[in-house]
Amino acid sequence: MGKVITFSNQKGGVGKTTTTAAVAAGLRRRGFGVLAVDLDPQGNLSFCLGADGGELCASIYNVLKGEISIEAAIQRTKTVDVIASNILLSGIELEFTSSGREYLMREALEPIRNRYDYILIDSPPALSILTVNAFTASDLIVVPMLSDIFSLQGIAQLHDTVERVRAYCNPSLRYAGILLTRCMPRTLLASEIRGTAEMISAELHIPIFKTSIRSSIAVCEAQSLQQDLFSYSPKNPAAMDYKALVDEMLASGI
Ligand SMILES: Nc1ncnc2c1ncn2[C@@H]1O[C@H](COP(=O)(O)OP(=O)(O)O)[C@@H](O)[C@H]1O
Ligand SMILES: [Mg+2]
Repeated sequence: MGKVITFSNQKGGVGKTTTTAAVAAGLRRRGFGVLAVDLDPQGNLSFCLGADGGELCASIYNVLKGEISIEAAIQRTKTVDVIASNILLSGIELEFTSSGREYLMREALEPIRNRYDYILIDSPPALSILTVNAFTASDLIVVPMLSDIFSLQGIAQLHDTVERVRAYCNPSLRYAGILLTRCMPRTLLASEIRGTAEMISAELHIPIFKTSIRSSIAVCEAQSLQQDLFSYSPKNPAAMDYKALVDEMLASGI
């Protein structure tokens, strides 16, 4: 059974998409079978991975609506297999009102779970029905977070949603951990933030990854060229940190 991991934080710009793409590429380099699913109507992950996220593509929206099989939506890219998303997905909140709508993603993934070692889901910057669907379908959550104080405050809200999904939809949902992203190391602020993040993690019983991801311009460059970070510039700080993150995840049994 493939492990399903969602990258989530209701804040935008914290590195969810970047982390999903980098972990997908990192796991693939280690020889694992990886499917990356874009569950954000903005379609950033689809773009980064070089998948077709146009309005006419076979996307996760068509799958969730039951219009096509999940197999029909899988695109093979240079890096990993991808199920793309597009703006149509933003209508889902209004279109799906029937009971059981929390389980659409879980049911959609069922026929292909055995085909991959890892299924990684990039989620939108909201605690919406899409996020709840991702949590219901997942074994684990990674919470990318900027190293600033406002990000820390948002974690409590995210945690409430996780607790509700655990109570009603998916009791086996666990946190893989909080991941500090776009860090400026060797600054006083960075160490203060890490301290605060550790306090919150202890309070809410959410683990925190030892690895944090440093800021690097190579991240934006690789994304605009639709290349994976490791092929684009293997020695840049963020690529080295994402490699260390994948090692840490694997070492912890994820
Ligand atoms: N380690 C990093 N160094 C530099 N820029 C980064 C890094 N991680 C992410 N970014 C940039 O920050 C912006 C937001 O990242 P993104 O992954 O799209 O966040 P989210 O998916 O949470 O909205 C993007 O422009 C991305 O290129
Ligand atoms: Mg994103």
